[in-house]
Amino acid sequence: ARNINAADLNFLQCLSHNSNHSKIPIYTPNTSSYTSILQFSIQNLRFISSATPKPQLIITPLHESHVQATVICCRRHGLQIRVRSGGHDYEGLSYVSDVPFVVIELAEYQAIDVDVEDASAWVQAGATIGQLYYRIGEKTSAYGFPAGACPTVGVGGHFSGGGFGALFRKYGLAADNIIDARLVNADGEVLDKESMGGGAGSYGVVLSWKVRLVPVPPIVTIFSVVKTLEQGANALVHRWQYIADKLPRDLLNALLIRRANASKESKGTVQATFLSVFQGEAEQLLHIMEQRFPELGVKREDCMEMTYLQSQVYLAEFPIDSPELLLQRNQSRKFFKAKSDYVKGAYFGNRVERIVGKGFHEIEVPEVIFSPYGGRMGEIPDTEIPYNHRKGVIYKIQYLAWWGEKGRKASKKNIDWTRRVYKYMTPYVSKSPRSAYFNYRDLDLGQNNKNGTASYSQARDWGIKYFGNNFDRLVRVKSNVDPDNFFRNEQSIPPVRACR
Ligand code: FDA
Repeated sequence: ARNINAADLNFLQCLSHNSNHSKIPIYTPNTSSYTSILQFSIQNLRFISSATPKPQLIITPLHESHVQATVICCRRHGLQIRVRSGGHDYEGLSYVSDVPFVVIELAEYQAIDVDVEDASAWVQAGATIGQLYYRIGEKTSAYGFPAGACPTVGVGGHFSGGGFGALFRKYGLAADNIIDARLVNADGEVLDKESMGGGAGSYGVVLSWKVRLVPVPPIVTIFSVVKTLEQGANALVHRWQYIADKLPRDLLNALLIRRANASKESKGTVQATFLSVFQGEAEQLLHIMEQRFPELGVKREDCMEMTYLQSQVYLAEFPIDSPELLLQRNQSRKFFKAKSDYVKGAYFGNRVERIVGKGFHEIEVPEVIFSPYGGRMGEIPDTEIPYNHRKGVIYKIQYLAWWGEKGRKASKKNIDWTRRVYKYMTPYVSKSPRSAYFNYRDLDLGQNNKNGTASYSQARDWGIKYFGNNFDRLVRVKSNVDPDNFFRNEQSIPPVRACR
């Protein structure tokens, strides 16, 4: 393994020769702030232990040329690059590698420029979606952006893998609303979207996105209705599966199965939460619910009216009169493991306890989250962008285990539970391939070799689960733009030349 450090003059000289701006901020393991910079955005504590491989350098670019220089010099010196925007990768791929590597930490590269007249914004890749919501809200209440709920998620990873949230049934994914992008390719050149030809993650370092803002109404209404098994959760969950994807596109009615009232004395009960976000007023929402899902029994007092920006603050679990909290980059962290599915046809019956299965009560925070599709998601062609889970998808499922206890035993118990639920759901979810959401990265689906290389068929194993038939197109683009496979990781798209 190469060992780059501050004394490696060749590498450092290479960086300064190739950057036409000020000095590039560099952190080596000997720098006092190295550990805090490395750890500050790590979301999954599974990848924070002393045994986790660490980068030889962390670079925090302030200018495009800093990223260009890093790419050029790492390539020249045989080092791999991991790019980190918000650090939320489920498997830690933005800051962990088994081969010698450098982390490009984009947290300092986070400027956002909102143009209300043009209904667009340029967002640097190190910004978070919370920052984007806040900066839009600062300038206008007429527009929002269709991305996820968790404010600390970074736009770099989130937009390149899809990005869904409260507005996705109306406007599609974040990735569907990208107008332009700037990206540094494997030769260290800056390209725009026209010159790129498509794709991002396996293709280069995204510097910034130009996004299309979408109109939002003056009032958004949210309700969260919780039902235990005794209160009829089974029948409601069963009914939900036939309704949720057919509701008006202004309404997202997500379903979360969780455990409530766990204590030292009690293992708690299974409960279903129906969380609705409606782009409109409470009266309209009540009318829709009365017509389409009367069994849920939603009442006026369940509904909270607020502005669109406040709805993002509410979904982030902050007090709604504190929108500035969306700017925070750090939040409480746990160990976690997740898996995902798409459902196109079969419904899983009406026994919620069976889905969560054996062991649910042993998991500290188990969650099964159902996100209904339909609306705009069913209209955008599968081939428009790499994300192909569109027409015919009824809902997406995410199986999540969160825990705070250290150690292999706790880790095994929690990971085993997610695998067991996933196995139990096999008959009810998409098949051939069994699809998964790229942004819920899951290395159980298959991975490249440890150094990131893979044959076409090896990568196809996991690739078609994420991208379906678009996988082949991604391979073709990769073969053109990065034939030497410089940008690679455990689930990067291989160029076809690497097939041999
Ligand atoms: P991170 O920085 O870890 O990057 C993820 C991947 O993208 C890595 O492979 C990384 O190298 C690459 N990457 C990052 N920046 C790049 C750049 N500038 N150029 C090239 N490659 C880059 N999803 C969703 O759709 N809706 C939701 O509501 C949520 N909510 C949510 C909550 C929580 C708590 C977590 C942990 C995750 C989510 N997600 C989500 C999933 C999220 O969309 C996914 O993890 C994203 O990849 C995270 O992007 P980050 O930039 O934060 O991650």
